[in-house]
Amino acid sequence: MARKICFINYKGGVGKTSLIVNTAAALAKIGKRVLLFDFDTQSNASIWLLKLDRWNKINSAGDGAIYSIFDPGRAQVKDLVIKDVVEGKSGEKLLPGLDLVPTTFNLVDLENEYNGDPKRPPYLVFYEQLQAIEANYDFILFDCPPNILRASQCGVFASTEIYVPANPDALSLIGFTLLVEKLQKFHQLSASFRKSGQGPAAQVHGIIFNSIKTGVDIEVPKMRMQLRLNQFKTAKRAASVAKIFDTQIRDAMVVRRAVALGLPVALVSAEATDAGPGGDNVITDYRKLAGELVQLVAS
Ligand SMILES: Nc1ncnc2c1ncn2[C@@H]1O[C@H](COP(=O)(O)OP(=O)(O)OP(=O)(O)O)[C@@H](O)[C@H]1O
Ligand SMILES: [Mg+2]
Repeated sequence: MARKICFINYKGGVGKTSLIVNTAAALAKIGKRVLLFDFDTQSNASIWLLKLDRWNKINSAGDGAIYSIFDPGRAQVKDLVIKDVVEGKSGEKLLPGLDLVPTTFNLVDLENEYNGDPKRPPYLVFYEQLQAIEANYDFILFDCPPNILRASQCGVFASTEIYVPANPDALSLIGFTLLVEKLQKFHQLSASFRKSGQGPAAQVHGIIFNSIKTGVDIEVPKMRMQLRLNQFKTAKRAASVAKIFDTQIRDAMVVRRAVALGLPVALVSAEATDAGPGGDNVITDYRKLAGELVQLVAS
């Protein structure tokens, strides 16, 4: 069965999208079958992986993106999958194994304008359709905005694990704390909609420190985060296996540049990746992170 994973924090701009895209690419590179869902109206992951021209076509067509399963409601999740999404200039497939279900700006309407059947909340509609394609993948990843409103709820409800990207600052810790509170509320509200065999509602399985500058000591913010995580584990509000990842992702210019190039960093040329003295660079970080994720046994 696919591992279904949300990257989320109530703090914006911590690196959720860059982590999920680059981790997805690292997983595909080691031969995993990966499907990434973009549940953030900002469409950052979709624009990044499709590049602007391809994404613009979907945005102006008004269908072909995730919102069309809700309104007009004729599309099915399985029809929206863009296989092997990363392409070169002449359409050649650059990263087989990484598929995307994109979003466009119309996903914002899910939050207010959409009036579906109240007995079938959006996350249930989504989850039922996801089951048709789940078996095709090893990993299904959900990129979410920094909240648990309706769009994120689709990812959270379907997930088996949640990972929290964080920067070494107080706001990331607050964002994590708020996330755990909001998760608990959502799980209570959605409990009656869970299917038999769906397994327990997803809890936080890990914290991933991102964008760490060379020479900056993050021991104190890391210790504060560990204390909070321990409290949540004791209260059974985080998974028993939950941990701060040993791998942290360095701050590297190429992560920002990769967005403009429309490529995960793993596909950006080696010269551009600011390799350190040992030849290690941010691509190595993402590779190690993917390895740690593969190793972490779901509880
Ligand atoms: N390791 C890194 N090194 C350098 N820049 C980074 C790194 N990770 C992320 N960034 C940059 O930080 C900014 C925010 O990252 P990103 O968009 O991934 O955050 P986010 O949490 O998804 O934001 P949002 O809450 O808006 O969805 C982007 O410009 C991104 O390129
Ligand atoms: Mg984002």
